[in-house]
Amino acid sequence: MSQKKKRSLTGLKPTGNLHLGNYLGALRPALELSKSYDCIYFIADLHSLTQTRDAQALASQVLDQVATWLAIGLDTDKHILFRQSDVPSVTELTWYLSCVTGHGLLEKAHAFKDAQAKGQEVNMGTFCYPILMAADILLYDTDVVPVGKDQKQHVEMARDMAGSLNAAYGELLVLPEPLIQEEVMLIPGLDGRKMSKSYNNEVPLFCDEKTLRKKLMSLKTDSTGMEEPKALDGSTVGDLFKLFATKAQYDDLSARLAKGGMGWGHAKEELFVAINDHVKEMRERYVACRKDEALLQRELAKGAEKAQAVASQTIKRVRQAVGLR
Ligand code: ADP
Ligand code: TRP
Repeated sequence: MSQKKKRSLTGLKPTGNLHLGNYLGALRPALELSKSYDCIYFIADLHSLTQTRDAQALASQVLDQVATWLAIGLDTDKHILFRQSDVPSVTELTWYLSCVTGHGLLEKAHAFKDAQAKGQEVNMGTFCYPILMAADILLYDTDVVPVGKDQKQHVEMARDMAGSLNAAYGELLVLPEPLIQEEVMLIPGLDGRKMSKSYNNEVPLFCDEKTLRKKLMSLKTDSTGMEEPKALDGSTVGDLFKLFATKAQYDDLSARLAKGGMGWGHAKEELFVAINDHVKEMRERYVACRKDEALLQRELAKGAEKAQAVASQTIKRVRQAVGLR
């Protein structure tokens, strides 16, 4: 008899224009897990409300993300893709968890401490965001949460909160574990720093070819003259090329640059071709899906129904246990 697969849960805030860093560092590794786990993916729109005030953009970015998951090949028949706000009982579970969570635990959260250190105004949503994130995880009986190192603390907090509720009322919630994906790489942006929207150095995942070429041509390189030999190793062009080219292609470009007589412009053109080849089909699917709003709405409805079926069991159990009968 086949063993029941463990459940993995991935949440991603709906932000505009995903970039290559998001794809290689978050989307693709999360999709990889669908081979060995029973996966739930959700679009964390409630979390976005701590920052955004642009309702229209938020709604549209949710659809962008649905189209992205479909474009990169998520099978929504085998796994679940849903919008967080379609299952409102997550805010109900947030309340039950709030009532067993000390203020001090939240004060230790990195996101809160960083915001405070920068003198930023911290709204209660931001302060309580680890509780909502814990509810996201615990509502779906999640076994593992694939996260970068920056989110590990939040999964540990979710585990603590589940432990507190269980200690008070009996074994109600599954204790989740962070699944740290060590092999996930840090993708450099056009200026060599980490690719990030906040540095404005990103290469969009699904922009048109012309924009992609233009972006890559703006990549910062040193000012070595055309005739001089150049090292691909250690350059941003090289670091990006490595991610999309075969070893043979990399070695070949590296040798040609080292001989001299080849400018960075030519190397960037080859980088463009490699990236474009990699994303071309996904981009076509993305454009087709994004246009088909009826399809996106159907996907959201299907995901909501499947997520709701899991969530309603958990919330029923918790309500009973805490005395709301
Ligand atoms: P940004 O820094 O552009 O705002 P986010 O913080 O919204 O990106 O990141 C969303 C997800 O994408 C996170 O899981 C993060 O780890 C991943 N990610 C973002 N930038 C990179 C990068 N340069 N390399 C690898 N992963 C990245
Ligand atoms: N906090 C995560 C981020 O900023 C997004 C997120 C919300 C999440 N809830 C989650 C991730 C639950 C994993 C599990 O990237």
